[in-house]
Amino acid sequence: MTTLVIGSTGKTGRRIVRRLNDLGTPVRGASRRSTPRFDWQQPSAWPAALQGVTSVYVSYHPDLAAPGAPDTIRAFTTAATRAGVRQLVLLSGRGESNAQRCEQIVRESRLSHTLIRASWFFQNFTEGDLLEPVLAGTVALPAGMVGEPFVDVNDIADVAVAALTGDQHDGRLYELTGPRLLTFAEATAEMSEATGRDIRYAPISLEQFHAALTESVGPDHADLLTGLCREVFDGRNQSLGRGVQEALGREPRDFADFCRTATRTGVWTTA
Ligand SMILES: NC(=O)c1ccc[n+]([C@@H]2O[C@H](COP(=O)([O-])OP(=O)(O)OC[C@H]3O[C@@H](n4cnc5c(N)ncnc54)[C@H](OP(=O)(O)O)[C@@H]3O)[C@@H](O)[C@H]2O)c1
Repeated sequence: MTTLVIGSTGKTGRRIVRRLNDLGTPVRGASRRSTPRFDWQQPSAWPAALQGVTSVYVSYHPDLAAPGAPDTIRAFTTAATRAGVRQLVLLSGRGESNAQRCEQIVRESRLSHTLIRASWFFQNFTEGDLLEPVLAGTVALPAGMVGEPFVDVNDIADVAVAALTGDQHDGRLYELTGPRLLTFAEATAEMSEATGRDIRYAPISLEQFHAALTESVGPDHADLLTGLCREVFDGRNQSLGRGVQEALGREPRDFADFCRTATRTGVWTTA
């Protein structure tokens, strides 16, 4: 009755592994650093990771918005079914059309499933690509003044673990957001207030964003992230979801609380 957590060293995966360990549920972490090694680019090695597994948590890398993701997710659901897996929990992205194609592939598989459609993570500012900009004092993104319902990764992990350990979440789609819409200007203002440092948002164009990324991470990743921002910051996500309340019967964590905790840990302290 082993649960396989794919992306077990990532923001959601490592919290899910910790929670399942605390519950005494047999768990196997999967990433390019695990044994057996799991790599989305190497399907021939998937059966070794799936051996003896009944449930799987899937966080896909780099993103379900990537062009090849639907084909890979289709191949993975087939491999998982063949290996005897019964249940799959998919981490998906809110407002991403390619991610919704992947959700549909999971729905059409023979696996029991729960779909977790998440908005932008709080922890992008502490553990992800936005930490460095926060430390430098300027977060430059092509997000205009659109409101984003940022969500805490701990809430995502709580919902994923509930889904992996109880049947009442089978077939459910949960839209996970935080309790408030915040523009990036408002989010950085809250970080400034918590830290006492000057942290600002600089709205930039998609073209400027793409050019900067091409320089730092190369053209393919620049295309992926620019396409993602074009989709998710066009206003489609400017609403709150009720996935945390529906799955857990409690309110999601607020961004201000996250900012206070992050400040106490020292992650946003410079020099
Ligand atoms: N960030 C957001 O705001 C946001 C919002 C909604 C949805 N999402 C979705 O969240 C997912 C990412 O989840 P996360 O933030 O928990 O992870 P993460 O922190 O981005 O970490 C990536 C994980 O994937 C593993 N990985 C990297 N390349 C891999 C490969 N080729 N094969 C297998 N594993 C690989 C990494 O481990 P190793 O390096 O050890 O291999 C790590 O465990 C993405 O699909 C994204 O679309 C993100």
